Amino acid sequence: MTILEIVRHPSPILTTPCEEVTVFDEKLGVLLDDMYETMVEHDGVGIAAPQVGKSIRAAIVDFDEEQEIIEMINPVVTAIGGSEVEVEGCLSFPGLFGEVERPFHVKIEAQERDGSLYELEAEGYEARAILHEIDHLNGILFDKKITRVVDPSEFEDDDEEEDDE
Ligand code: CO
Repeated sequence: MTILEIVRHPSPILTTPCEEVTVFDEKLGVLLDDMYETMVEHDGVGIAAPQVGKSIRAAIVDFDEEQEIIEMINPVVTAIGGSEVEVEGCLSFPGLFGEVERPFHVKIEAQERDGSLYELEAEGYEARAILHEIDHLNGILFDKKITRVVDPSEFEDDDEEEDDE
């Protein structure tokens, strides 16, 4: 596996809607493995293909060691519910953290790396991470959704460090 370079804001690839994935080959698997390694290297909890320079609809979420990695190819949000405001970060915006309002519940339909379809329901932080990554695939960045910028000193004493998506 290879650690890839993360594309930082501002870059046109980050604000361009990504292309559907149509070929589920070994190359896609290698990209997903490399994205995973890149995300772990940078202490992220999610990463989207445009953040490593590939404008395709593929993203990963993995914020809980006990849970399986969520690989989302061509994800579509099929239902949302509730709302919650929490602090987010993003690997493409080092040092920027801010409060973002997002749905509390989400239901998605997506494909695995082998092309098979699956459905997933999530809530809370998991739903937030999923929606943050799907935004990336649509060229939407979290800085536009921040309602209050949060200084890292506000949460540096917390037990849990904020992670980047
Ligand atoms: Co992000």
